[in-house]
Amino acid sequence: MSVPWPARRGPLQDSLPVQQAGLPSRSAACAANHFQPGRPHEHEIGQRGPSSIMLGLLRTRRRMSEKETIAILGGTGDLGTGLALRWAKAGHRLIIGSRVQERALAAAAKLSAKVKPDKGRHPVRAMANAEAAAEGDVVVLTVPAEHQVSTLESVRAALKGKILVDTTVPLAHPKIGTVQLPEQGSAGNRAQEFLGPDIMVVSAFQNIAAHLLHSEVHIECDVLVTGNSRRARSRVIELVESAGLRGWHAGPIQNSAASEALTSVLIQINRTRGMSHSGIKVVGQG
Ligand SMILES: NC(=O)c1ccc[n+]([C@@H]2O[C@H](COP(=O)([O-])OP(=O)(O)OC[C@H]3O[C@@H](n4cnc5c(N)ncnc54)[C@H](OP(=O)(O)O)[C@@H]3O)[C@@H](O)[C@H]2O)c1
Repeated sequence: MSVPWPARRGPLQDSLPVQQAGLPSRSAACAANHFQPGRPHEHEIGQRGPSSIMLGLLRTRRRMSEKETIAILGGTGDLGTGLALRWAKAGHRLIIGSRVQERALAAAAKLSAKVKPDKGRHPVRAMANAEAAAEGDVVVLTVPAEHQVSTLESVRAALKGKILVDTTVPLAHPKIGTVQLPEQGSAGNRAQEFLGPDIMVVSAFQNIAAHLLHSEVHIECDVLVTGNSRRARSRVIELVESAGLRGWHAGPIQNSAASEALTSVLIQINRTRGMSHSGIKVVGQG
């Protein structure tokens, strides 16, 4: 679908113009880093060392009470649009990130049509991935596993001091029902190793089918949330709950191996029981 640019009307009018945000046209799609170092908040949180992490957490914590801005990289796909829909309905500010102008605009327009802005809801914005990463308080990565690292590389500078929510499941075709984790132990760990300690990677949503997020149903499945910072995990659990799900602290980022591996297990269960969209639920006593 091609969306006229920039003569747009309606909810996207309040968006930052994608052209100004440095989004290439479809033919020129690339992962160029459009980070603009002049933006004051990146300077504020971009220092190295633990203080930048604390500053980032405090700044985004403060914004939480105003409903923080969530930027979704690759937010045009199945999972990204599903999460965006749930979060937009919950009143979050959303930015759809993409490599391609037309795709970002089309996804944002579709979402805006489903979630009309009112006093509790905000216009959905469309941007290049790197601009989205710079603008978001929390950044969510929803691209296929084989493009995880290249996408992170294109936005790394903009992520300093922030939480990066990684949703990647490293399924390897054709044997997607067999656990095949990367040499770093998990895709979540691979992201954390690649980005370094100034960026808090929190892994989540691996066991939720995008199809369910797009539906109106109450989703029974739980979400395992892993990451090296407990406070960052707590913030992501709040986002999980905003999306209508229940989230669990599931330990450090290395434990993302468990949630990523579970997806292949769930695929096997779907096949053998003739189910679709099976998920997990944590139960216990006391
Ligand atoms: N689908 C699910 O039910 C589900 C559930 C749990 C976890 N996940 C995980 O979530 C992630 C996204 O899954 P999905 O099903 O939403 O994927 P998808 O629809 O196939 O792709 C998502 C987006 O990734 C971007 N993309 C495609 N090729 C790219 C490339 N070469 N470089 C950079 N970006 C590229 C595209 O955005 P643009 O073309 O707009 O840039 C695309 O819309 C995956 O890692 C998957 O394992 C998916």
